[in-house]
Amino acid sequence: MIILKSDPEIAALRRAGRVVAEAHRIVRDRLRPGVTTAEIDAWVEEFLRKRGAIPAFKGYRGYPASCCTSVNDEVVHGIPGSRVLVEGDIVSVDIGAFVDGFCGDSAWTYPVGTVSELAQKLLRVTEEALYKGIEQAVAGRRLSDIGHAIQQHVEASGFSVVRDFVGHGVGRAMHEAPQIPNYGPPGRGVRLKEGMTLAIEPMVNCGDYRVRVLEDNWTVVTADGSLSAHFEHSVAVRTGEAEILTTL
Ligand code: MF3
Ligand code: CO
Repeated sequence: MIILKSDPEIAALRRAGRVVAEAHRIVRDRLRPGVTTAEIDAWVEEFLRKRGAIPAFKGYRGYPASCCTSVNDEVVHGIPGSRVLVEGDIVSVDIGAFVDGFCGDSAWTYPVGTVSELAQKLLRVTEEALYKGIEQAVAGRRLSDIGHAIQQHVEASGFSVVRDFVGHGVGRAMHEAPQIPNYGPPGRGVRLKEGMTLAIEPMVNCGDYRVRVLEDNWTVVTADGSLSAHFEHSVAVRTGEAEILTTL
């Protein structure tokens, strides 16, 4: 069942989303070659707590940190640690936070220093694909129009869409119905309505779409070792144009 949010509930989701966006701003501003992924996690956790927000990931199914940091061929759910980022890396930082009982969830892939032409294209195409998906998150469209738009853009650019992980509804819980695949035919699934709040999150690989999970039981990597990117916003379905919640 998809939970429709009232305007006051969407206002709370906006507050959570803003805190998540501010945490991303800090990461973006401080990121440079030589920082460790554990330092990123410390910046995020300290900022969220300072703002009175609760890190949504910490303790979720035993997850040990306040954000996910996924480097290069890591797709999602990388655990922050002693890894030192070097010039040319790309790092996907996924942040979730609860404010007043509502969750904001957003991921962004950042270049570390100067990155390859291929990495630059991957970041650009994945971010564009996120916005193509968001364009479909309007009242009257069908759920699968989101994933279809994402897949079209990604594959037209020569990249592939991860199948094994999907976007989701977001609200009082980080993961609500519906699941939102980033691929598939258009015109299927529920009809979108005002008050639905969705986390849209394309994960895009330079090579094959297949992934595997490392021994730590969290880190998802591309099966072929190719680079991967992840961009995510929490949005509210509106008439005409979706409202992005995880923004400043
Ligand atoms: N944005 C991710 C998701 O929607 C965050 C989950 S990471 C976890 O699934 F560590 F909390 F599991
Ligand atoms: Co998410």
